[in-house]
Amino acid sequence: MASFSLILIRLSLVAVLLTASFCQLKAIGVREAVDDAVGEQREFDYFNFALQWPGTQCKNTRHCCPSNGCCRGSNAPTEFTIHGLWPDYNDGTWPSCCKKSKFDEKEISTLLDALEKYWPSYRCGSTSTCYSGEGLFWAHEWEKHGTCSFPVVRDEYSYFSTTLNLYFKYNVTRVLNEAGYLPSNTEKYPLGGIVSAIQNAFHATPKLDCSKGAVNELHLCFYKDFKPRDCIIERSPENDNYFSSSSCPKFVSLPVYMSSGVDDATAAIPWILENEPL
Ligand SMILES: *[C@@H]1O[C@H](CO)[C@@H](O)[C@H](O)[C@H]1NC(C)=O
Repeated sequence: MASFSLILIRLSLVAVLLTASFCQLKAIGVREAVDDAVGEQREFDYFNFALQWPGTQCKNTRHCCPSNGCCRGSNAPTEFTIHGLWPDYNDGTWPSCCKKSKFDEKEISTLLDALEKYWPSYRCGSTSTCYSGEGLFWAHEWEKHGTCSFPVVRDEYSYFSTTLNLYFKYNVTRVLNEAGYLPSNTEKYPLGGIVSAIQNAFHATPKLDCSKGAVNELHLCFYKDFKPRDCIIERSPENDNYFSSSSCPKFVSLPVYMSSGVDDATAAIPWILENEPL
């Protein structure tokens, strides 16, 4: 008899314990749900630093306006410029619009001169933003990509200053110039040679994108501690372009954009603007 009531006591103890841990589980569940509402996407794996080649970008310019970097006459960019710093996943996808942090130009007022020069837009229209409809190119990059670079980059100012620092440290234009790949409207360069020049300089493999045989973008990739790493290259089965994306042929050009400023608008190239590479 005594042992039976002991079992009863034990059973009820177990019940109390089970109930307690169930409540605890529920409490954890609630906390997770709250976190999820702020940022549903898991932490990124690496940074993809996207650069644009002005010569190619500007060939697609059909209109000039003050915000378009192609339309600055002799001040138009002649080096690779910044497209953005993108947190990516190793599986080839990426998080976007991770936190409700609306772009505020005031936060980066001390960087604006550098941003105008090295991070220009090559378009006249506004770009989409996550929470404020449309806005500046910088607003698009911060809201869509920058907000996902947490916890490495924690705020808007750090996003832009970190990206500028990478740009100064890894001067792709210089590396290509020193390897003999100079801007030209007649030369074609072996894609493999351009890739090797970057590999030798930074000890990591870049990814290139082309438009009509001309280099359009060049991407450098970094671990979360900003050490260079190989970019992830989608291999195409049709062409055996093992080191770069299928949009580049084996020989590519680095065109020069001859801009004479806003009055040059009538001479705009009649190519249709391709889908925005954002
Ligand atoms: C990159 O290198 C080129 C060629 O040496 C130089 O003219 C340019 O100022 C450098 N760019 C930056 C952002 O440091």
